[in-house]
Amino acid sequence: MGKHLLVIGSGGREHALAWKLAQSPMVSRLSVAPGNAGTAEIAENVDIKAMDFAGLVAYAKAEHVDLTVVGPDDPLAAGIVDLFQAEGLVVFGPTAAAARIEASKAFAKQLMAEGGLPTAGFTIHDSHQSALAALADRPFPLVVKASGLALGKGVYICHNREEGERALKEIMLDQVFGQAGQQVVIEEFLTGQEISIHVLSDGKNVLLFPPAQDHKPVGDGDTGPNTGGMGTIAPLPWVTPEMMADIERRIVRPVINRLDETGRRFTGLLYPGLKMTPDGPKILEFNARFGDPETESYMRLLKSDLYELLMAAVEGRLDQVKPEWRDGAAVCIMLASKGYPGAYPKGLPITGIEEAQRIPEVVVFHAGTARKDGQLVTNGGRVLGVTAWGESLEAALKTAYQAAECIRFEGKHYRADIGSKAINGSGIKSDSSAEGK
Ligand code: AMP
Ligand code: GLY
Repeated sequence: MGKHLLVIGSGGREHALAWKLAQSPMVSRLSVAPGNAGTAEIAENVDIKAMDFAGLVAYAKAEHVDLTVVGPDDPLAAGIVDLFQAEGLVVFGPTAAAARIEASKAFAKQLMAEGGLPTAGFTIHDSHQSALAALADRPFPLVVKASGLALGKGVYICHNREEGERALKEIMLDQVFGQAGQQVVIEEFLTGQEISIHVLSDGKNVLLFPPAQDHKPVGDGDTGPNTGGMGTIAPLPWVTPEMMADIERRIVRPVINRLDETGRRFTGLLYPGLKMTPDGPKILEFNARFGDPETESYMRLLKSDLYELLMAAVEGRLDQVKPEWRDGAAVCIMLASKGYPGAYPKGLPITGIEEAQRIPEVVVFHAGTARKDGQLVTNGGRVLGVTAWGESLEAALKTAYQAAECIRFEGKHYRADIGSKAINGSGIKSDSSAEGK
């Protein structure tokens, strides 16, 4: 009998996952909780929030859900997988113990240090006084980070002592990130291009997706404040198979093994964010979930059945599957609301999606959208992820931008330079990450 799947979350990532899962011949029913206006078109939206664990468990039981896929970080960190497992439900994602690698930067750094994993030099501080003292003898620029989950906003690049003091005040005294700022990590500033690695793991075996690249700052040329991500490309042309093998050997396998050895077996999707420094790849952070908008690009590139891959991870048999990817490239351009990543209006009418999707190889994923009296309206900072596949990166970008222009809502903005850094090259010497230096 066909399977009933439940995807938890409401962003572009969840729309993309649902879109791909809906194509599986094994899946006969698909629900998304709470979903958005895009998921409503391909699945049943269930009005239960991602943090309403009791509601989600009750739904999964009553509706005989065969597999639940958890999208966002918060429910993972809060132990949704542990709860589902305890209730005898099948769920894709890491336990709270394993998801701690994302939820606590201090924990992740300690694990990296103990395992000899390449990352920026760092110190961890529980008190404002100790953090302040650490600024005195450190070279600038340096990076101050709130240890906990802060929607990607708890990171400050500080160019001098004054900026460092301001960051510590905001995080530790003003507590602008609440609990997430009880501990801070102060770390060395790394240079080089950032790349996104996605690893499907059953706790022992790993499958690496092609390398991807997000574009986090809101403005062209990486200017302005950081966002959740303004656009992605996959694969990243200058990252060679040798570099990926090096990343697997020096970063992915050691961290998966270390988590397993320390009783935090990682089943799910591990997403290390790396900096490709002149001294080789170094870990910026670990995420314990699919990236957003990386997933929007990946789902356009993946040929294999996603349901089968996720089940292989859940059942510990990833060594028996091999995902297939389309040739060429897939890209995602995020269309954002006026003001994002700051305050933004909601409820503005959106038009032009059908026109955009008439262009061959275009799929528009919804991120922050809703329906109001039948009309599609904006409902978030990141509104739509316009994706395209092309035979080359250049072709995919051209198609995606053509589609992005078809879509209209008041104040729409997007980066016009997604992928241009990748096309212009890595900015590092081609042999720099080949050997552990
Ligand atoms: P994170 O949430 O730790 O990935 O940090 C958010 C962003 O801050 C990253 O995507 C980087 O662009 C930047 N960043 C974080 N840590 C460092 C570092 N040690 N050196 C340079 N940039 C960093
Ligand atoms: N692509 C950024 C994130 O998912 O954290």
